[in-house]
Amino acid sequence: MAMKPSCRILILGRKSVFFGFPIPPPKCHPSFTNNLPNFRLNFGHDRKLYSYSPRILGSQCVIDRTQKAFCAPNSSWGQSRVFSSTCNVDGVGRGAYLIARVASNVRNYSTSVETRVNDKNFEKIYVQGGINVKPLVVERIDRDESIGRDEESRVEVDAENVNNENSKDLNEAEVLSVPKEESEIEREAWKLLRDAIVTYCGSPVGTVAANDPGDKQPLNYDQVFIRDFVPSALAFLLGGEGEIVRNFLLHTLQLQSWEKTVDCYSPGQGLMPASFKVRTVPLDGNKFEEVLDPDFGESAIGRVAPVDSGLWWIILLRAYGKITGDYAFQERVDVQTGIKLILNLCLSDGFDMFPSLLVTDGSCMIDRRMGIHGHPLEIQALFYSALRCSREMLTVEDGSKNLVRAINNRLSALSFHIREYYWVDMKKINEIYRYKTEEYSTDATNKFNIYPEQIPHWLVDWIPEKGGYMIGNLQPGHMDFRFFTLGNLWSIVSSLGTPKQNEAILNLVEAKWDDLVGHMPLKICYPALEYEEWRIITGSDPKNTPWSYHNGGSWPTLLWQFTLACIKMGRPELARKAVDLAEKRLLVDRWPEYYDTRNGRFIGKQARLYQTWTIAGLLTSKMFLENPEMASLLFWEEDYELLEICVCALSKSGRKKCSRGAAKSQILV
Ligand code: GLC
Repeated sequence: MAMKPSCRILILGRKSVFFGFPIPPPKCHPSFTNNLPNFRLNFGHDRKLYSYSPRILGSQCVIDRTQKAFCAPNSSWGQSRVFSSTCNVDGVGRGAYLIARVASNVRNYSTSVETRVNDKNFEKIYVQGGINVKPLVVERIDRDESIGRDEESRVEVDAENVNNENSKDLNEAEVLSVPKEESEIEREAWKLLRDAIVTYCGSPVGTVAANDPGDKQPLNYDQVFIRDFVPSALAFLLGGEGEIVRNFLLHTLQLQSWEKTVDCYSPGQGLMPASFKVRTVPLDGNKFEEVLDPDFGESAIGRVAPVDSGLWWIILLRAYGKITGDYAFQERVDVQTGIKLILNLCLSDGFDMFPSLLVTDGSCMIDRRMGIHGHPLEIQALFYSALRCSREMLTVEDGSKNLVRAINNRLSALSFHIREYYWVDMKKINEIYRYKTEEYSTDATNKFNIYPEQIPHWLVDWIPEKGGYMIGNLQPGHMDFRFFTLGNLWSIVSSLGTPKQNEAILNLVEAKWDDLVGHMPLKICYPALEYEEWRIITGSDPKNTPWSYHNGGSWPTLLWQFTLACIKMGRPELARKAVDLAEKRLLVDRWPEYYDTRNGRFIGKQARLYQTWTIAGLLTSKMFLENPEMASLLFWEEDYELLEICVCALSKSGRKKCSRGAAKSQILV
């Protein structure tokens, strides 16, 4: 949606004070250089830089058709909707480029980063531990482009110091990954992944969602989606290539401060786009400029809010630090401000009665109407993960104390809420079956007034004796009993669930293998909405017909998160079984986005082929299985301190035994 220049100028007036600092006139500043191969960020050449909202001022990557590039201030500042940065392009696609401003005055003096890691050839990665983990030193030998795939890497792990209670396989004093022949499928996958790379001013900044040469109508699949890029980023990181991930994190950070407008309304400041595209805009003469064009939902089908984008951004930021050891990056002032903006948006007060995030339908991977508005599990699990990441990454100082306190409180309230009210297993369903309703009091058992008739018929037969899961959504008078895979996997990965619950979720996946995995891992949700339910809940969506796409389709990209969860729970064999299944078909089937039918036998009706996160998902899963110690950097164990906060808060509030007892019993499980 193009913005009107006049509107922009008005907005400039309205928003000309950001973080309490006036916005000075636009200037072109060389604040970000990218000199390959020794990737160095130098965000603070000019520490007196002022900051502007990117929408208000843009500078350009101007490329002369004669292949000379030069720096020019953007003459159309205040007019361009898209973000563009000035760059030098040497025609071969390498060079320094400049970002004209940072998001706030606070970001002005970002540190010039002295990375501990040379992206291409690093020797040592210093792995910072979590609360219960002492620093771990990982050594690798001479990495080059093909690192992690076809060369020997030696990893020394101080087993005693790693707290991986469930990851029996990881506690080896020394893990040697044997040099491995790259299989045909891996070779092909890497080639396709590289072909999917998007460059901006000559530097890699992300991967397109799909690269299907036969696709006549790519819609927005030619864009870089934030959520889709995560498995690509992990594949690159595990392969020793940090640059693209770093660029991605920085560019999306710039887009975050965009002045976004959906019709006449502006969503919150910290919102990250769902996706962005690099557009080439012709200029006078033989020149053209490259501009970044974000989509905050204003063009997306259904105008859905990308609530998960900021959460994924934080999760990826932590992963970048953990895998490369470049912790200085996350300490930069602009990056810290980015984290805070996202958190402020998520933690802001509203009318909510629950600690879970209230969102509209389609605000996550399922980005169209599927009856998940309210408090969908996927968002809650990503929210919880992002809070845990932020707590680790936020620099503790006077200015962030309150935020850290708010994060801790929210973490404990959220985990209590989800563990207590989203969890179902045989026993719990039986309790719900016998619920009394219309209870008015603070210590009601049936707090949300769930009518037992809501228990769906399929569930009565489906729930196994052993195992359980987190339901898809909880609202007053409403439990959505569908099994949503992503949310359940992230409950395991982030320890949103108790250790027992996490184990039980994998038990359920194993017990229900034919339903959740079948011929292709993994179902996005189970079961599908059919008949009247499909008509009413999806609005008769022809793409989301029963057992297709978001409505019970099978998504191979979920494999990497499944693998992570399995490794965490010490069950890599389960992941291997799923990877083997996927490997049998993905290459032959040309890497579909999703599969249809009850058991995932057919390539999805409208599935894109050469879908990047399908490709990256498989590669990442295989790399995790080969290097479980790397996977272990990306998950969390139970945090007992959080549980204590929860018990304390509940005791202080004087609320009755039910909740307090429940919090304590969580500690015991
Ligand atoms: C579909 C998916 C969404 C994904 C996008 C790009 O819209 O539902 O999760 O990000 O395609 O692949």
